Amino acid sequence: MCGIVAYVGPKDAAPILLEGLQRLEYRGYDSAGVVVSNKGLKVRKVKGRVADLAAAVPARFKGATGIGHTRWATHGVPSDENAHPHLSNDERIAVVHNGIIENADELRAKLEADGAVFLSETDTEVLAHLIARTTKEADSLEEAVRTALKRVVGTYGIAVIDAERPGEVVVARNGSPIVLGIGEKEMFAASDVAALVRYTRQVVHLEDGELAVLKADGFHTFASDARETAKEPLTVDWDTGHYDTGGYEHYLLKEISEQPDTVARTLRGRLDERFNVAHLGGLNMDAREVRSFRRVKIIGCGSAYYSGQIGAQLIEELARIPAGAEPASEFRYRNPVVEPDTLYVAISQSGETYDTLAAVQELKRKGGRVLGIVNTVGSAIARECDGGVYLHAGPEVSVASTKAFTSTAVAFALLALHMGRVRDLSPADGRRICEGLRRLPDQIKEILALEPQIKELAAKYAASPSMMFVGRVRGYPVAREGAQKLKEVSYVHAEAYPASELKHGPLALIGPEMPTVAIVPDDELLDKNLTTLGEIQARGGKVIMIGHRTADPKLANECIVVPKNEVELDPILLGIPLQLFAYHAAVALERDVDKPRNLAKSVTVE
Ligand code: F6R
Repeated sequence: MCGIVAYVGPKDAAPILLEGLQRLEYRGYDSAGVVVSNKGLKVRKVKGRVADLAAAVPARFKGATGIGHTRWATHGVPSDENAHPHLSNDERIAVVHNGIIENADELRAKLEADGAVFLSETDTEVLAHLIARTTKEADSLEEAVRTALKRVVGTYGIAVIDAERPGEVVVARNGSPIVLGIGEKEMFAASDVAALVRYTRQVVHLEDGELAVLKADGFHTFASDARETAKEPLTVDWDTGHYDTGGYEHYLLKEISEQPDTVARTLRGRLDERFNVAHLGGLNMDAREVRSFRRVKIIGCGSAYYSGQIGAQLIEELARIPAGAEPASEFRYRNPVVEPDTLYVAISQSGETYDTLAAVQELKRKGGRVLGIVNTVGSAIARECDGGVYLHAGPEVSVASTKAFTSTAVAFALLALHMGRVRDLSPADGRRICEGLRRLPDQIKEILALEPQIKELAAKYAASPSMMFVGRVRGYPVAREGAQKLKEVSYVHAEAYPASELKHGPLALIGPEMPTVAIVPDDELLDKNLTTLGEIQARGGKVIMIGHRTADPKLANECIVVPKNEVELDPILLGIPLQLFAYHAAVALERDVDKPRNLAKSVTVE
């Protein structure tokens, strides 16, 4: 959510900042701006996309130190004035900021009383005026920033430059990611490695409370009490190819289509054919500990939460441990009872979602044992957890999550297999699940080959004012995620219900105007599901069935037939046609597929 880029070195900063912002645009895209330092600060900022900003930056916009920002509005509407960077009144200090300053109103009133003139409605501008005031008495920009931040309550990732100290950028982090990139006689910083991989693979993640000073010849990091901290650079293995559409029209389609490979990567090296077990080296738990858990509690937000519901079902079925999922955003606020014999699992693609991070921190404060199922290596949530499973799905650029959702479900199948085999899952069932998991990449390829049929269906139903998604037990989280994808990218209203709940209320909505997408796997609940389809059709409702039965017009108006796996693993496959359905509905409705309105990737604010 919002993107930050900073550069200091021998080159012109503006092209580097603009390129970085383009790669971060998926995190926020309602306005953008850059500032460079060259005998004073030069600023350009505009409402709109990074391309609009690039068009507004003149050819002669020279300066070898600079910071840039792409915004997702929280305080104040998207506008030129509210776009970052924000400057102090003497135009000496410039700041870009991700996060929320909670005491902004109070600080603003004090600063106004002290003569500051505010030009925007943002909380960020408070920082520019505060730092300008502390700068006067400080020996360094670093000290000025640290002193100013002591007065701030809230979350931030910031980058700051001072016109009177060219060749220096100060960045700081509290709840909103900042990563440094180490170049050859140049330094970079960004809110996301995506902006850095074109220039360097050597990165350093700041911890909450840390501040860093960047100069062309290197960097220093400091804790909040000004003690210098020692940081080991990490090498990131993501390359720029991950951030290109690779010939696809949209990242969303590219990421859906990558799933045979990304699922294979999630599985790679983790299935043991000899003992039919899963090896998950990062769990940091021995067999005795695994046996000691009496409950599993899974937390995540949005699609991550729905994948957690699939995970809970897998753990209950394969490991026979009571398991449940809950939105992390709710969990963190309800003073949860944290039990020593419960295993907590936090899910996040970005590893930066603030609600999930805060829930993990609350769990840790109360002594909970937390595993992370995370895509982004070295991210805040991954670092906060006691152990976990990386998805290895590669960066997800489209705002709507697809490949990370599927890989999370696969990671849960591995975790459930691991826990099950340590407990009561038989070797024969272990083998059945191992073989099923191995079949997934090829079966996903078969589903992707159904794209022309799904595209046609999506175009046919995209104009529906609303759609119902239903599924039973294993199929219910699949239905929820299907509805979520459709809403997000096509803006078609969609509701998801357990199929069993339809007759307890929502059946009243069913009619010719409200088509239903039904998840109907060939499992022990098939007959119950078919009865539900009959009830829908009896009310004139159209049914699009996603399942294993060959097309039968008596059962449903439309059928998408997916390959069958083991019953426990079928939900992983049943979700994929729904991703394609949402994508093609959005294209048919000419939506901004990769950057849906009002949304942003990585929600790093409350
Ligand atoms: C939906 C979507 C969001 C995220 C949610 C959590 O397509 O992308 O619902 O799943 O914001 O994000 P992560 O997984 O990064 O914690």
